[in-house]
Amino acid sequence: MKKWALITGASQGIGYEFAKLFAADGYNLAILARDQPRLQQVADELRARHGVTVKVLTKDLAVPGAAKEIFNELEREQFPISILVNNAGFGFKGAFAELALQGELDLIQVNMTALVELTRLFLTPMLARREGRILNVASIAAFQPGPFMSLYYASKAFVYSFSCALADEVAGTGVTVTVLCPGLTHSQFHARAGLTRKHGLFMNADEVARDGYHALMKGKPVIVSGFMNKLGANIAKALPTRLTTRLAGKMNQSM
Ligand SMILES: NC(=O)c1ccc[n+]([C@@H]2O[C@H](COP(=O)([O-])OP(=O)(O)OC[C@H]3O[C@@H](n4cnc5c(N)ncnc54)[C@H](OP(=O)(O)O)[C@@H]3O)[C@@H](O)[C@H]2O)c1
Repeated sequence: MKKWALITGASQGIGYEFAKLFAADGYNLAILARDQPRLQQVADELRARHGVTVKVLTKDLAVPGAAKEIFNELEREQFPISILVNNAGFGFKGAFAELALQGELDLIQVNMTALVELTRLFLTPMLARREGRILNVASIAAFQPGPFMSLYYASKAFVYSFSCALADEVAGTGVTVTVLCPGLTHSQFHARAGLTRKHGLFMNADEVARDGYHALMKGKPVIVSGFMNKLGANIAKALPTRLTTRLAGKMNQSM
């Protein structure tokens, strides 16, 4: 019987690349995002190319209760989720005092609250079956505070810390938790965040997804994608926080 993977933010970018990797390996998929026509297009493509079953979940994770609705729907239809990929996320560039409060509250809901809810809900049946894998997408932004994208960086530090701790808690249960930390990656993320720079050490979304996929399948707790990002993350951990905070702020202002 084919296994099921649930991927949030699968309509484009890194999440779409994840969907292609899982489908190519024969997983049935539940793909989630807000853009229904685009999700339908992705579903049709994956069904035709890989012969897998794809369920489209058109949901806005910024709406409280969305995670529980998704869980209930998949339980009702008896799609046992073996793999959960919490990938959906976004950020906004700007001074915290000037950014719209609602946007920042939505960021908390999507990047942190929905991720926690989905993890908690799907973890219970995974533990009962003694089988399952969870991949949470953080960022190298997790490794230092980021002025002018303060809440985004804080949300990724949260995802990183939460995921590392949970990976340790579930060790030996048959369930694994992996956190993926990408650096700059070509996707819609930057345009949506109000960041304009398109050049620099950008990776492609398919490379990042492949790194995450392999780490997930090996049950590794942490994967920083790309050599330069690994180097940057290690340097950030070694330097004083005041300095890395200042540098991150300058970088965000320049983008
Ligand atoms: N790109 C980078 O440089 C970079 C670097 C480090 C980490 N990351 C992280 O990687 C993850 C994927 O980002 P990406 O680069 O692939 O960005 P992206 O191209 O903007 O894709 C984001 C995905 O999340 C979905 N999404 C956004 N808000 C949502 C909501 N309220 N409800 C449901 N789905 C929602 C989007 O679909 P809809 O718009 O259709 O809802 C889309 O499928 C994010 O967590 C991001 O923080 C990205």
